[in-house]
Amino acid sequence: MIFIDKFITFLAARRTRRYLTFDRYESDSLAAAEKEKSYLLYMHIPFCQELCPYCSFVRVKFDRCLAIKYFAALKKEIALYHEQGFRFDSIYVGGGTPTVMPEELAEVIEYARTFWEIKRLSVETNPNHLTDDILGILKAAGVNRLSVGVQSFNNEILESTDRLAKYGLGEEIAERLSSIAGMFDTLNADMVFNFANQSDEMIMQDIEILKKVCVDQVTWYPLMVSKGQKKELFEKCGEVDYRREKQLYKLIVENLGQVYKQQ
Ligand SMILES: C[S@@+](CC[C@H](N)C(=O)[O-])C[C@H]1O[C@@H](n2cnc3c(N)ncnc32)[C@H](O)[C@@H]1O
Ligand code: SF4
Repeated sequence: MIFIDKFITFLAARRTRRYLTFDRYESDSLAAAEKEKSYLLYMHIPFCQELCPYCSFVRVKFDRCLAIKYFAALKKEIALYHEQGFRFDSIYVGGGTPTVMPEELAEVIEYARTFWEIKRLSVETNPNHLTDDILGILKAAGVNRLSVGVQSFNNEILESTDRLAKYGLGEEIAERLSSIAGMFDTLNADMVFNFANQSDEMIMQDIEILKKVCVDQVTWYPLMVSKGQKKELFEKCGEVDYRREKQLYKLIVENLGQVYKQQ
């Protein structure tokens, strides 16, 4: 019986040998080349105090214990990259809401700086986190670029996307952005176009507000609907019409283009 088992294993190994054959790299050149380069380190902080119904990014409801473990795991991963010989000269922290635990975020950044000279540091945040305390922590951590999720200044859109109660009126967000202009090298506003209940006029109003607020940069995303969000988004904002995308894109480029240079 044992012999038959061994024989069958031997035959199976022979038959599948060609599928399990790995060639060594010619040399270590690939690894060496990678190690000579400097990279951008993307760190994802998936926690949000509340989840927005349209959001297609990886995010989970904030849980303090889980977040503490997550920040500790990030440090371990940073050490692993360092051990592997990788070099980073910039960091982009996206989310989720990276500023959900600002002190812990600053600690992770400081930890990364013990290994590498970080020249550019970009962090995403939400309008309710533009407080003096959080901004102070981000400034002290050396953030150069702060990206604020606005989506729209229109209160109807903010309401239907569950952002009005969380982040305040469009007017308040605009005012707060204006008040922190110049604090970071780059202040970016993230906007979204093509919500079903978003008219051309609403987009035009957003453009006019952006011009007055004077953020340094605007990133305008076309609404992307993931399978998981489709039903909730439909109930809150209506059915997305992708045929409008091109026309709205042109509207934004033509009107925002008067003041901002398109990248
Ligand atoms: C993933 S969020 C993370 C930062 C922050 N929590 C926020 O709400 O801005 C970054 C940006 O992605 C964009 N975004 C999120 N879901 C989107 C979607 N389904 N389609 C297009 N853009 C989206 C929004 O403009 C948002 O500001
Ligand atoms: S849009 Fe921002 S705040 Fe809203 S769920 Fe997505 S990551 Fe969180």
